[in-house]
Amino acid sequence: MQKFVIIGGVPLSGQVRIAGAKNAVLKQMAAAVLTDDLCTLRNVPKISDVAILREVMGDIGFEVRRTNGDGLELRAREVTWPFVPLEAGMKMRASFILLGPMLARFGRLILPNPGGDRIGRRPVDYHVAAMEAMGATIEYRNGYYFASAPHDGLRGAHIEFPTITVMGTENAMMAATLARGTTVIDNAALEPEVDDLIAMLCGMGAQIQRTGERSIEVQGVERLHGTEHRVIGDRLEAETFAIAAAITRGDVTLTGIDPAHLGSFLQVCERMGVPYEVDPAAASVVIRGAASGELRPVDVRTDEYPGFATDFQAPLSVLMTQAVGASTIHETIFEDRLDHTRQLVKMGADIELLDNRRARITGPTPLHGAEVAIADLRAGATLVLAALVASGTSVISGIEHVDRGYEQIEAKLVALGAQINRIEA
Ligand code: EPZ
Repeated sequence: MQKFVIIGGVPLSGQVRIAGAKNAVLKQMAAAVLTDDLCTLRNVPKISDVAILREVMGDIGFEVRRTNGDGLELRAREVTWPFVPLEAGMKMRASFILLGPMLARFGRLILPNPGGDRIGRRPVDYHVAAMEAMGATIEYRNGYYFASAPHDGLRGAHIEFPTITVMGTENAMMAATLARGTTVIDNAALEPEVDDLIAMLCGMGAQIQRTGERSIEVQGVERLHGTEHRVIGDRLEAETFAIAAAITRGDVTLTGIDPAHLGSFLQVCERMGVPYEVDPAAASVVIRGAASGELRPVDVRTDEYPGFATDFQAPLSVLMTQAVGASTIHETIFEDRLDHTRQLVKMGADIELLDNRRARITGPTPLHGAEVAIADLRAGATLVLAALVASGTSVISGIEHVDRGYEQIEAKLVALGAQINRIEA
């Protein structure tokens, strides 16, 4: 088992290249299932979620191989076994994104109910309903969904999600690309990762367009062809490094990220008094932590994009511990995503849970090193951030969660001057 050992209190400075987005690349890997041509992805992050999906796709019968640097080549010629094992489904919920492409192209898939994780119940009922609206039959037995499409393929449908779902939108959209006729998806997600998937699918010959604020129209086609696509930068990794700069009062340049994708976060930086500069042409953001005065408290409510992302809130809570006064977080997307606050309290933070979706964070409180354990990906990044600003040494276990979504986080932090080591324990 590996752990991080971090000695806090060092102002970070320098430049960090943001990797490709986890929540974009996983869906783009699944999109390759929609054609038997070669698909090549660039700017693919070296994270364990990519490795898990690559293994799952390999077991189904597809060729997926890394090429030099940050490339990935995928070819879905034929299926040997249309099955996703429970273990993979539990390790990575995003394996459920194979449902739409597999039904559209091969007409069948057996996959586990991914179940909930540390942040909420996370049902997949909207995905199932969308596939059924397009004519699929989905039976649930012994923890698995047995999904099959009609012999003449899926058909276009009108799908309206009761609440906005990112992967639901992506699954329905991919299924619709090869369905007979037109599909209209209402109450669709607007996340940048969804638009990046649309760009890739259109590069494969799909006919997809956003026709209204939250409407997507897909005209089904006979066949899709191969493509080469560069994955967008990861706004969630970028936010984590931005906060690392702000809390250690350092100056850090983030490259390889579209500043527009950080809009809601940069607005919070402004309200808290963290200076920054953006350079859209250079796809970079500079955080001027050294120039920030007293940090101001803020009230933040998470929302679907372009609102403040639920994945941004846990890392931001560390910055709130250093603000002068009381800040609040209202988590509206997931019902159980404040668990990380218990670990922060262990490090000296003053956090009151008002209920399972609201927290009040009062600062400034000096944080101190501690032995803490990670329960999920973003909570993991949050504890690494807390250890960077804490006095003394922290020992963090469960770091495999961080590796799921952050490429070489400790190497990138060391390059900015941090004192962090990965140890075998
Ligand atoms: C995606 O999850 C991201 N994961 C999550 O990032 C992110 O937090 C989430 O979108 C919200 O932005 C990936 O893209 C791999 P949803 P997803 O469907 O698509 C409910 C990270 O840290 N819902 O938009 O699974 C659901 O329970 C991860 O990188 C249903 O009720 O999230 C939630 O309350 C964590 N039924 C809400 O909708 C359904 O069938 C939004 O979830 C589907 C969703």
